Amino acid sequence: MTRETFEIRDQDGLGRIGELSVPRAGVTVETPALLPVINPHVRTVEPSRLRSEFGADILITNSYSFYGSDEYRDDALEDGLHDVLGFDGAIMTDSGSFQLAEYGEIDVTTPEILAFQRDIGSDIGTPVDIPTPPDVARERAEEELRTTQERLEVAEGVDVGEMLVNAPVQGSTYPDLRERAGRHADATDLDVFPVGAVVPLMNDYRYGDMVDVVAGAKRGLGRDAPVHLFGAGHPMMFALAVAMGCDLFDSAAYALYARDDRYLTVRGTEHLDDLDYFPCSCPVCADYAPAELRNVGGRAREELLAEHNLHVTFEEIRTIKQALRAGNLLELVETRARAHPAMLDGYRALTDHADQLEREDSVSKGAFFYLSGESARRPEVVRHHERLERLSLDPGERVLLTEGGPSDNFDASWRVVPPFGPFPRHLSESYPLTAEVPDRMDAEGYRAAAEGVARLADVNPDVAFTLAHRGWPESALNLVPERVDVVDLNGE
Ligand code: GUN
Ligand code: ZN
Repeated sequence: MTRETFEIRDQDGLGRIGELSVPRAGVTVETPALLPVINPHVRTVEPSRLRSEFGADILITNSYSFYGSDEYRDDALEDGLHDVLGFDGAIMTDSGSFQLAEYGEIDVTTPEILAFQRDIGSDIGTPVDIPTPPDVARERAEEELRTTQERLEVAEGVDVGEMLVNAPVQGSTYPDLRERAGRHADATDLDVFPVGAVVPLMNDYRYGDMVDVVAGAKRGLGRDAPVHLFGAGHPMMFALAVAMGCDLFDSAAYALYARDDRYLTVRGTEHLDDLDYFPCSCPVCADYAPAELRNVGGRAREELLAEHNLHVTFEEIRTIKQALRAGNLLELVETRARAHPAMLDGYRALTDHADQLEREDSVSKGAFFYLSGESARRPEVVRHHERLERLSLDPGERVLLTEGGPSDNFDASWRVVPPFGPFPRHLSESYPLTAEVPDRMDAEGYRAAAEGVARLADVNPDVAFTLAHRGWPESALNLVPERVDVVDLNGE
């Protein structure tokens, strides 16, 4: 469906820069955006500082924490959430579904909590969805999804005024249920689409499964649906999640980790005790060396660590946005994938969905950088191979496919560049064939190029091909059909 609240400004694969209009707050939030989680009872970093010092236009808090406490409830109803928290940006509220997942039961219905969220001045509210954990029996996932879907339909009927409403997408670890949930949510008149119950996947470093879950939800949701990844707050995985098409993130990690003296980086989490140097230039890291920070007393140290954690988290969002603008988001994802083997699984799962990414990708951007064997599985390579199947040559022609120069002994001579494989010379200046590739190519790159040769040969059975390569390994040459003549230019 078409939405007036979300506009996509720029795109790179499934990743995008967008603008989410939040009418009740009178603000427009640029996405990808990070929503710091504010626990109203704890406030590790004062919300009033979030906008000016950290650039946060939107935060998230739990309406159930207000609903369940007589004192906070009356304050919030009387003064409104923005005054109580001291924040003049947009405020998203959660519903108590988190408590439902943690403690099994809550005593509030969707109409009650949505009306309460409206009454305390929330800008984006949330129904009581059921966060079905990973790996449950399919029957349970289906049944709980039905309940969540009923509640979304109930939410459509609640008078929420200008407040936007989240439509969480559940379905456990069943990609087809996630897709069904996405399609159903998209057909409601609700506004923002959080992919729910992924926290257990993140906690267990199951980034491959996380990607499959998001890919399922995205297949069901329309392209113009703003997607929130509920509870995903570690900056290490933002680039991956943005490349899968997530637009909003919320982070409690910055505060929760700080409580345990843990220091976030885009390459993982460090314990303050293990650090001799801070690899960061935020105001906290500029002021303190690790040994100095260890000497700061309890609550003050926790606050300083939380501030650093928020700074790196926002910095990563800016890094991602700039990569997206420049058209090299996948290069950033590939770099981040080096942080941890589980991130590599996430990136490999993403390239498993190359066809889904490829449908959305713009055909032209900066330069394709080949950075590792995973680059050979990128959507651009998949697209080039599909394109080769549509390139028919004249029957009876003799065609040279070469990593070297052209030759007059053939009717045509095409260039060959790993990982893409063959292409007509006139495409040399067009994306992605202007790729920067290493001189010392790896086996994955050669194999992908050989697959390209094989696909071209398959669709042109009456053309005589000669492949002139520079030292391709056996594992690649084995993929080239027998009827292609093969010459090693290095062996001349
Ligand atoms: N916070 C983290 N995960 C979830 C979820 O699945 N649903 C809701 N409402 N909040 C969450
Ligand atoms: Zn820092």
